[in-house]
Amino acid sequence: MRKMLVAGNWKMNKTVPESLELIHALMGKLNDSCPVEVVLIPPFTALYPAAEALRGSRIQLGAQNISHLSKGAVTGEISGTLLISVGCRYVLVGHSERRNLFQEDDAMINQKLKTALSEGLYPILCVGESWEEREAGKTENIIGHQLKAGLDGLTQMEMRKMTLAYEPVWAIGSGKNAQPEQVQEIHEAIRNNLSSQYEPAVAKDIRIVYGGSVTPENCSNLMAQPDVDGALVGGASLDADSFYAIINAIK
Ligand code: 13P
Repeated sequence: MRKMLVAGNWKMNKTVPESLELIHALMGKLNDSCPVEVVLIPPFTALYPAAEALRGSRIQLGAQNISHLSKGAVTGEISGTLLISVGCRYVLVGHSERRNLFQEDDAMINQKLKTALSEGLYPILCVGESWEEREAGKTENIIGHQLKAGLDGLTQMEMRKMTLAYEPVWAIGSGKNAQPEQVQEIHEAIRNNLSSQYEPAVAKDIRIVYGGSVTPENCSNLMAQPDVDGALVGGASLDADSFYAIINAIK
């Protein structure tokens, strides 16, 4: 049975005081019986204070990015070891904003995944099509390619540490979420794709979460789909009430 996961990707938002305010507000609402795994993904600058504030709670911490290299003279980069040292368990890899704004290609993403795994992190690999690609009927091809190239060379054991996030680029920050049936269709296709390359248990057990304009209003129908195992939330995770409402709607 796959445990649902709700992750809040704060992107380039929240100073340290703002991060702590949000965390305390959220901790005041969540109780220990919450059946959902909750992950906060603040900017790098807030990771350490966030970890301190979350000490003893069941909320996990993730990072938004990782260097493809593991150490050394790499100005401006953050390695997996550094992320682990501030309490991260998860790391986002291949977010469309990284692919599009920073030209991260599948080879770079593959290297980041391998580095993250070798350093003990649990990566969340983001995949998804643009609106033009969807209109041209290329969605499954694009995602198939992102999976094949991104996951190239990972062992079955490593695959067991992976989470996938389907984030259609056109749905991110647009207020226009993909419809639940569209999401189910793609998540099922991803599972089928994986089952042709890995042990059946890998495809069956891997968590595939959806991201793209998830809100308290639309999340119940999205999360009710059989192959949807949670949400990767951007904008709505910046407010404790709306993020909690999303977590609470998943039961
Ligand atoms: P929004 O929820 O703001 O659309 O962002 C989604 C996202 O990119 C999460 O990684």
